[in-house]
Amino acid sequence: MIKHRTPEDSDLFDPRHYAAVRQPLLEAQTPPAWCYTSPAFYRREVERIFRREWQFLGRTEQVPAPGDYFALAFAGVPIVVVRGSDGALRAFANSCRHRGSMLLDEGNGNCKAIVCPYHSWVYALDGKLSGTPDMDRTEGFGAGDYPLHRVRLETWAGFMFINFDPAAAPLSVFLGDIDDKVGIYGLGDMVLARRREYPIACNWKLWVENAKESYHIATVHKRTIQRYASAKSAGYAVEPTIGEYCVTFARHDASMALLQGDSGFPVHEPLLGRREAAGTCAPLIYPSTYLACTIDCAWYLEVHPLGPSSMMLVHGALFPRERLGRPDFETLAANYYRRWDITTEEDIVASERQQKGLDSPYATPGRFSHREPLVHAIDNWILDRVLD
Ligand code: FES
Ligand SMILES: [Fe+2]
Repeated sequence: MIKHRTPEDSDLFDPRHYAAVRQPLLEAQTPPAWCYTSPAFYRREVERIFRREWQFLGRTEQVPAPGDYFALAFAGVPIVVVRGSDGALRAFANSCRHRGSMLLDEGNGNCKAIVCPYHSWVYALDGKLSGTPDMDRTEGFGAGDYPLHRVRLETWAGFMFINFDPAAAPLSVFLGDIDDKVGIYGLGDMVLARRREYPIACNWKLWVENAKESYHIATVHKRTIQRYASAKSAGYAVEPTIGEYCVTFARHDASMALLQGDSGFPVHEPLLGRREAAGTCAPLIYPSTYLACTIDCAWYLEVHPLGPSSMMLVHGALFPRERLGRPDFETLAANYYRRWDITTEEDIVASERQQKGLDSPYATPGRFSHREPLVHAIDNWILDRVLD
């Protein structure tokens, strides 16, 4: 009855299992179902992708003041991002250097120093160990030798990225020529107006693949954003890129962030007279950050992998700073939020349903449409990193 068999873990990353995915788009097969279900495949992705490449982690305005922090586990690693008294943003392993306790509970807050809840070692906001009760008799112990372990953090256009790999190339190299594509939108001057989290019962790749194909729009979003469904009218042209991202540009009327008939903000001034005033530029920064820049705002999807079939999505809504001062900002922004809430739920239903189908022993590889070039590109980017 079982139609496919997952290889043994020792054999799971042999490239021959994936040869069909490596073919050109219209000759290729979709990845084997175990890529979306196997704990061993997921562990390899964590090791080779999430703990090695740059990872998007929200906006700098989430921690505006000295002492502001947020703590979370990313790809299984407890970390804290904190703004120092000097205004600099830093990321640290959220683990005490004494006997390893997690320091700050997950969530956000403000602190003057980080105090371990176990034996009260104290760390300054720059990670230096500044308080060590009853350690004065310990031979050869110096607080200077036990700062918090640093996690690399760099920013681009108001977006924070972390990297667990000390040897990784700088973020600017990773992002390549992305500013040529989205610099015009002034993302660094936009403000995070709303941030919303969604736990989703699917493999992180299903969400990312969904975000970068327009093929499902006519079906999944038929009651909402169907007008962006047609490849013929909207184009969804895949543009060449340098760096670890891919990008599409779709031509359309009005804002892609509104449902038909809803009122919104005028076109963002820097776009006037350019093709960007009549379309949406949407990069996917590998492995998992979707960004959409449309005529009057931008939004992003931040993906936190939690396991083979679970992830957390963060949806961030960005508007040009001056819009937030308008007396009608909240009224108009509500139209955008409604559109995002509805279409995000539609995509969640589709992705969780897809996960259930892939969990079946009958799940076998399928074929791609010409509408899915970036699903194929994303899958191959991942295989480039996880295979032996
Ligand atoms: S584990 Fe943190 S002070 Fe002991
Ligand atoms: Fe969708």
